[in-house]
Amino acid sequence: MSLSRPDPTALLAWYDRHRRDLPWRAAPGARPDPYRVWLSEIMLQQTTVVTVAPYFDRFVARWPSVSALAAAALDEVLHQWQGLGYYARARNLHACAKAVVERHGGRFPDDVAGLRALPGIGDYTAAAIAAIAFDRREAAVDGNVERVVARLFAVREAMPAAKPRLRALARELVPPRRAGDFAQAMMDLGATICTPRKPRCVLCPWRDPCIARAGGFVEDLPARSEKPERPLRQGVVFWLTRPDGAVLLRRREEKGLLGGMIEVPSTPWREAEWGDAEALTHAPAKVSWKRLPGTVHHGFTHFLLDLTIWAGTTASPPDGIWARPDQFKDYAFPTLTKKVVRHALSVLGDS
Ligand code: ADE
Repeated sequence: MSLSRPDPTALLAWYDRHRRDLPWRAAPGARPDPYRVWLSEIMLQQTTVVTVAPYFDRFVARWPSVSALAAAALDEVLHQWQGLGYYARARNLHACAKAVVERHGGRFPDDVAGLRALPGIGDYTAAAIAAIAFDRREAAVDGNVERVVARLFAVREAMPAAKPRLRALARELVPPRRAGDFAQAMMDLGATICTPRKPRCVLCPWRDPCIARAGGFVEDLPARSEKPERPLRQGVVFWLTRPDGAVLLRRREEKGLLGGMIEVPSTPWREAEWGDAEALTHAPAKVSWKRLPGTVHHGFTHFLLDLTIWAGTTASPPDGIWARPDQFKDYAFPTLTKKVVRHALSVLGDS
């Protein structure tokens, strides 16, 4: 059996009929606005299309151009970003808008090198913007596109080692014309047809040239190497309440895991168990702490975490971020913090 090479034209024809109607997309044939393309790509980093759509609409209504966004107060941008998480991205967004205005007179650079030099724009985002906004012949290769390419060409090498090869294969597919539509077509194909589980191969414009489909092993790709056991880290969380019921919170450092996000104060997380006296040196107040029953468990990519919660009350509250449980909805808690909150409130009673 011989399989033909995947034809970009077949994918583009499919895209013309089945493209997702997304708020940041230009109408068919219309010239995209680089500002909208850039804004959507930054918002879509680590976040889903469904989550991003209302944020995108609010941002462009409030700040219709990159100069308007550059002129906004950072606090206002951070406020509007609430709920999208990863505040470092919002800071970079604002810094990037300012850089585009200051360095480029308010016009986005139209190639990968120029885009890559701006704050918050990495390899993937630079390629996506260059292709979508400027029809540059660039391949924007994210996890969805890696999956499509691994299956099309039956790349059996495990991830992440296969990445360079997948990127090279993706690049070869990009047609000389309509590179922007092609990039978005690859994204849509990965999101709606070539899904991780139960791909809808019968509807795929590339079902014939797909080597994994011909061989019947589509769902085995991309191959993952055996995951090493994740180490278990531990920590003690300090649930400190004031007489009015407000709970002490804090903002994590900008750099690192859950950078810039709000959490309940805790000891550092480490593999060695915490002795009481040692944990106490990290407590935010000298009060009588009571250990709550149970633990909160959370899985991060590289480690597992068990948190014990200690609860205390204080009549002389230290400075910090204080919020009553009914105000928690105003904060963009990461999942871990939501678990801590749920556990503490369920044990203590949501008074
Ligand atoms: N994921 C990342 N960028 C995207 C885009 N422009 N459209 C849809 N999904 C995406």
